[in-house]
Amino acid sequence: MKTYRIALLPGDGIGRDVTDAAWAVLEKTAGSSGFSLEATRYPWSCDYYLENGSMMPADGIETLRSFDAILLGAVGWPIKVPDSVSLHGLLLPIRKAFVQYANIRPHKLLPGVQGPLRSEGFDILCIRENTEGEYSGAGGRVHQGTDSEVAVETSIFTRKGVERILRFGFEQARARRGKLASVTKSNAQKYSMAFWDEITRKLSAEYPDVEVTSYHIDAMTARMVMAPESLDVVVASNLFGDILTDLGAAIQGGLGFAASANINPDRSAPSMFEPVHGSAPDIAHLGIANPVAAIWSGAMMLEHLGEADAAGRVMAAIEATTARGIGAVPSKDKTEAITASVLSALD
Ligand code: NAD
Ligand code: IPM
Ligand code: MN
Repeated sequence: MKTYRIALLPGDGIGRDVTDAAWAVLEKTAGSSGFSLEATRYPWSCDYYLENGSMMPADGIETLRSFDAILLGAVGWPIKVPDSVSLHGLLLPIRKAFVQYANIRPHKLLPGVQGPLRSEGFDILCIRENTEGEYSGAGGRVHQGTDSEVAVETSIFTRKGVERILRFGFEQARARRGKLASVTKSNAQKYSMAFWDEITRKLSAEYPDVEVTSYHIDAMTARMVMAPESLDVVVASNLFGDILTDLGAAIQGGLGFAASANINPDRSAPSMFEPVHGSAPDIAHLGIANPVAAIWSGAMMLEHLGEADAAGRVMAAIEATTARGIGAVPSKDKTEAITASVLSALD
């Protein structure tokens, strides 16, 4: 029987609750799908940092490299450890080290979920650049603590990085409804964003079957609210994609519904699957975190591992649950009850 080795990183806050939920669903699905999943759990988190002085051991990345995939909950507990330390010590280095350059985030309404918009028929696939851009980490501070203090954070856009994410977006658009929205702010940022637009135009010649439209980020946020059904694949830089996908989560009913996959398309290292949301300190320990986003991310993991039928069964079980109204309204149902319903829908 085929066995996939999965590294589980529950992380902080509700990350732990939703990872347990996703794992229970994935294990049950595997059991009736002819393959097995073997989990190795790592406690790397802000608590781990407080005990060990780092978010993961020095050989953490090398440890993760041998797995078939990584399933992550959420990282960050700002009152214990500054986000600038925790996220740069665990989540962001994994995305970069494993060249998970395509962050795929689907936004659509699940059955029974009441979104905040009048439009219900949207199905958007956000493709977020995941390794460079505004998150390059290049910069510094000088004259700290004085009136002359300066902070600089440089965005880095490389031809290789921009071309590969746009090409990934074009391929997704070709396999879907043939529409690509490329998002920049080239009317204000005349180097990096104009560069992105130029590469979009260059690649569009190779994809005559894909209808390409360039949008400015400000106009795109309005479009996602006013006319989300007009969008198919949306490609954006690291920061713009981050912001757009919390907006995407909001129009699909809340952060508890938004799934994501950090993909290494070349398969030269493991990909990582995690909900869009964070550790939600405001609801941690209350048992009310919605596990749907994490379970859906688990389905994306099965799809990536080549287990499309099993992924489809997980999605069907999620849909059967929300269609019955369970987990459909934020904070109404307990994490456990939603998970139990998804598990029983798998029978
Ligand atoms: P957040 O996503 O954790 O929470 C924002 C709001 O959404 C909160 O009100 C929260 O209760 C709600 N929410 C989030 N997930 C939910 C769920 N599954 N069910 C129900 N409600 C949910 O964002 P934040 O508060 O800005 O960040 C908290 C911490 O998480 C910070 O340390 C932040 O840096 C980190 N963070 C980590 C990730 C990640 O690991 N991928 C993503 C985002 C934020
Ligand atoms: C996300 C998160 C992260 C990001 C943070 C926690 C660094 O918001 O995965 O969307 O911005 O990538
Ligand atoms: Mn985010």
